[in-house]
Amino acid sequence: MGEKQNLQEVPLITPYKMGNFQLSHRVVLAPLTRMKSYGNVPQPHAILYYSQRTTKSGLLITEATAISDTAIGYPDVPGIWKKEQVEAWKPIVDGVHAKGGIFVCQIWHTGRVSNTGFQPNGQAPISCTDKPISPSQDGSHHSPPRRLSTEEIPQIVNDFRLAAKNAMEAGFDGVEIHGAHGYLIDQFLKDQVNDRKDEYGGSLENRCRFALGVVEAVSEEIGADRVGIRLSPFADYMESGDSNPEALGLYMAESLNKFGILYLHVVEPRMKTLGEKFKCSESLVPMRKAFNGTFIVAGGYDREDGNNAVAENHADLVVYGRLFLANPDLPKRFELDAPLNKYDRNTFYSSDPVVGYTDYPFLDETSST
Ligand SMILES: Cc1cc2nc3c(=O)[nH]c(=O)nc-3n(C[C@H](O)[C@H](O)[C@H](O)COP(=O)(O)O)c2cc1C
Repeated sequence: MGEKQNLQEVPLITPYKMGNFQLSHRVVLAPLTRMKSYGNVPQPHAILYYSQRTTKSGLLITEATAISDTAIGYPDVPGIWKKEQVEAWKPIVDGVHAKGGIFVCQIWHTGRVSNTGFQPNGQAPISCTDKPISPSQDGSHHSPPRRLSTEEIPQIVNDFRLAAKNAMEAGFDGVEIHGAHGYLIDQFLKDQVNDRKDEYGGSLENRCRFALGVVEAVSEEIGADRVGIRLSPFADYMESGDSNPEALGLYMAESLNKFGILYLHVVEPRMKTLGEKFKCSESLVPMRKAFNGTFIVAGGYDREDGNNAVAENHADLVVYGRLFLANPDLPKRFELDAPLNKYDRNTFYSSDPVVGYTDYPFLDETSST
């Protein structure tokens, strides 16, 4: 079978114009925390990791990257608030660009998903609330947060803006604001967490004010055509759920149109818990219809339902996490309908610079270098 014929048959492997970026296919590398950025500085081993997953005119999203020293909630995650970190990102971005990839940096604040051990001077983590996360069974420890005062909130918005500016200096093509998965922005969005009485809490409009303020500031700084945001209205990780996720998702999709940002990236409702997919009746289609820019979906996709999502116009692009982690040449495997490597969950968060990271085999090992 000729390659050309194959290209026509695989919706995921068709070109797409995302704003000013001409993509050659629809298979996107998910943001994947790897906890190998020792001392919060990206390491040279990330050059190989990201460049292995780069295709010409393919889109990649970095692992979540801390915007400030209060943003950290896990060991050895990278940051982008210091010169040293910006410099360390440069060769990683260059590696992706050398192979023609398009690379955006996911900018992140964990909020209350942190503890005093990660915070400057051992202070309490910050959040929209002072409600702590319940003690967890998995051994992770979260300290009771300190509720940000109304006057402090613009400073945190500004930290996102500066991180975006730094991302541009590092050479990234854009940023993705991490508004998902129970972290700071999601804590403001969700009524299970946000118990504020000021203009950042209460009504839907007020709960979305912080997220939209970040979008506005970052768009002003680097241009809306370089800004994406990730949301997970239906998820309730870290006790960050909402009583009306449909309304929240729709309000955000509609409000984002005002800024003309590049993309909206949404986690599927079926990802009720990180790592498992459930059958469910909720759908992202209303958000897809409401949003004017590029719509990206994530969560539990395989080749077949990714192809269906594109063919049925439920999404423009499909993000792959675990499959892309274990298959550095995933777009090629999808194009050829080739077998996939299995991912090893035990090595997802190991600190080893190679194991479970840059050692997954390519389809054709001779083309891996
Ligand atoms: C090891 C690992 C690290 C992750 N890190 C992040 C992250 O840094 N930022 C984020 O938004 N999501 C993160 N996620 C969620 C993924 O981006 C993705 O949404 C999830 O894995 C579901 O997609 P999949 O079924 O294709 O793996 C992570 C998931 C895994 C497995």
